[in-house]
Amino acid sequence: MIKVSDLVKIFPPIKAVNGISFQINKGEIVGLLGPNGAGKSTTVRMITGFITPTSGTIEVQNLRYPEKILEAQKKIGYVSENAALYGDLSVYDFLHFVAELRMLPCERIEEEIARVSKICVLNKVQEQKIETLSKGFKRRVSLAQALIHDPDILILDEPTDGLDPNQKHDVRLMIKSLAENKCVIISTHILEEVEALCSRVMIIAEGSIVFDGATANFKAKSNIGKLDDVFRAMTTHAEVEGVCL
Ligand SMILES: Nc1ncnc2c1ncn2[C@@H]1O[C@H](COP(=O)(O)OP(=O)(O)OP(=O)(O)O)[C@@H](O)[C@H]1O
Ligand SMILES: [Mg+2]
Repeated sequence: MIKVSDLVKIFPPIKAVNGISFQINKGEIVGLLGPNGAGKSTTVRMITGFITPTSGTIEVQNLRYPEKILEAQKKIGYVSENAALYGDLSVYDFLHFVAELRMLPCERIEEEIARVSKICVLNKVQEQKIETLSKGFKRRVSLAQALIHDPDILILDEPTDGLDPNQKHDVRLMIKSLAENKCVIISTHILEEVEALCSRVMIIAEGSIVFDGATANFKAKSNIGKLDDVFRAMTTHAEVEGVCL
């Protein structure tokens, strides 16, 4: 579903992404991990088409960028790191606006707003202005807008950042239930989230992929199954007790 080859992004003089390649298939939930500044958001911003790669190729469902980028973008739902929401719109009006941007047929818009509002538990705040919502509810609105066109590919940059533990739990369940027929990339710093959700882990450090494999294999690198320790060993040059890379 997603194929990336030799992707590079340079913000002179910074090489934010340094020639990464991977393929993600339907049904996979991939946890994209890495220290601050590693290149995670830059990678997902290239896949979602927000920024142009310096070099390398991207294909989403066999649609190659840049020629087919608009078609590819129709298949992607994206929750960005700093969710771009229009604060002076109500939740309902915002979702309606996004549905129109996504060119959903008029007769389907109500139905889709109801569907995503149910999934993201937004029914009680439909008429509330977004700027008056709590941080967690803003995050839910951001998720809802990413789902409004029922995309095959979901790209979530720190989707549970700022949510309380109950909401985190709910959002994870929601992502899991949605993922069966989709391909999901989740950038996160929460390793328990990776364990709970992701079938596969990809670690980026200094713009390069330093691990790409099954979550169970990642975990098995620590003799006590401590993900934090494996992460630290892979992304720093420190010797970490109990970890064998
Ligand atoms: N628009 C930009 N202009 C210049 N440099 C940028 C830009 N966007 C990102 N960078 C740089 O690219 C590098 C990778 O940043 P990126 O945002 O991809 O990191 P990240 O892995 O998402 O980190 P975090 O965990 O903090 O969100 C950083 O050094 C960052 O300063
Ligand atoms: Mg980021």
